Amino acid sequence: MSQATASDVKNSAIGAERYFLWRRLHSLTGLVFGGYIVVHLIVNATMIQGTHPADIYQIQVDKIHSLPFLWAVEWIFIYLPIIYHTLYGGWITVTGRPNVGAYPFGKNYLYLLQRISGVIIVFFILFHVLGMKGLLGHQLRFVSEQATASTARHINSSIWVAYGVYPVGIIASCFHLANGFWAAAITWGLTISAASQRRWGFVCAALFALTLACGFLALGAAIHHGAMVVL
Ligand code: HEM
Repeated sequence: MSQATASDVKNSAIGAERYFLWRRLHSLTGLVFGGYIVVHLIVNATMIQGTHPADIYQIQVDKIHSLPFLWAVEWIFIYLPIIYHTLYGGWITVTGRPNVGAYPFGKNYLYLLQRISGVIIVFFILFHVLGMKGLLGHQLRFVSEQATASTARHINSSIWVAYGVYPVGIIASCFHLANGFWAAAITWGLTISAASQRRWGFVCAALFALTLACGFLALGAAIHHGAMVVL
């Protein structure tokens, strides 16, 4: 089944080879960043294990922060992939033509939702990362030596953050990730037949459920922890 849009066809006519490489790089950077998010949400979910007798989340954060060349790891596996994926993804969103009205089939809705969730994630990541880095005020700043308490402070900084920004950001991220993994298998020629796409679809649906569960467990734990401590 082809994933091409009208503008894809036009662009491939302009410079098929270069376009092919840009498209593959877009898929690859999505897979790298997606892999990071799966690990990130699983690590965050360890917050449900609480702080007694040991603060398990703090232990995980300490392990990450003791990695050598962490800044280089972050730039290579997180920031550069996101930047390229966002810029090229934005271009696809602007030039693509979703045809939900003309062909109201499930795949077209997923195609449209992939782009809507992508736009939501851009705003979410800006808030999330700038906030955690302390660029949006002390209340939102993540302090790695007080990982659980400062994450709880960030999440509980306002009712909008805890019950608006985060639920929406987590749902959009998990959907975009799972649907993106499903499409990536087509991009790389791994799922050619309709049957293989359906089978891979079940795996991606399970990935969606797993990441969503981890995201909401982390969020719930942070909200709960915030209610337990005076910040
Ligand atoms: C309840 C859910 C989440 C929690 C509690 C959480 C927590 C955190 C924390 C504490 C950091 C700072 C890490 C550090 O400096 O060591 C961070 C960074 C980050 N998070 Fe999340 N996060 C959540 C969901 C998400 C989601 C859904 C995404 C997907 C877009 C995401 C993407 C990122 C990125 C890109 C970074 C920057 C990576 C870095 O600088 O290390 N997070 N998150």
